[in-house]
Amino acid sequence: MDVHVVDHPLAQSRLTAMRDARTDSAAFRAALHELTTMLVYEAARSFPVERYPLQTPVAPTEGTRLANPPLLVPVLRAGLGMADAALGLLPESSMGFVGLARDEHTFEPRAYMESLPAELAGIPVLVLDPMVATGGSLLHCCQLLAERGCTDITVLCVLAAPAGIDRLAGAGLPLRVVTASIDERLNDRMFIVPGLGDAGDRQFGGM
Ligand code: PRP
Repeated sequence: MDVHVVDHPLAQSRLTAMRDARTDSAAFRAALHELTTMLVYEAARSFPVERYPLQTPVAPTEGTRLANPPLLVPVLRAGLGMADAALGLLPESSMGFVGLARDEHTFEPRAYMESLPAELAGIPVLVLDPMVATGGSLLHCCQLLAERGCTDITVLCVLAAPAGIDRLAGAGLPLRVVTASIDERLNDRMFIVPGLGDAGDRQFGGM
């Protein structure tokens, strides 16, 4: 599985703001929005393009557009904070939604919402979720996509734990990961260390 860490200084400064426990919700959401723009920019580097003829005010030339814009799939709740930035860079894209909440005791994801096209053969998908901890949530989401025929999944996240990366890599699914960091480890509550806390709570408040 290909894992790309976006180590650009501007991406790392937004990640630093998100890690800092003193950052309030508004500033956290702003940093996530800006960082997502950079993650999408990096992920889109390999997107196929097509050329088409156009006229500038001076002369005819050729333009470039995405040949096959991806479906965007934010994983609720925390992925919602990445949705607007991704759609801003990819205005041609459609959006699907998956709602997952991790059980506090078993750490397994509980699905409470799913709104995806029935058929995803030939459609690349960008999954948006700030955190890959155990990897259970993203594995569940990516399996939903693969069941619908998707063969090209890119996971965009802010932070990943090595255990989550290993779990995704071992699943045999057609996916790659673009992240701003691979952190040290998980603690006994399956939180990423050093991490940034709970990305859903830090954006939207505790439930
Ligand atoms: C968080 C996070 C991921 C998941 C990661 O969501 O946004 O979806 O946990 O953990 P995993 O890799 O161990 O599955 P959470 O379940 O806290 O829901 P929320 O987005 O509503 O806060």
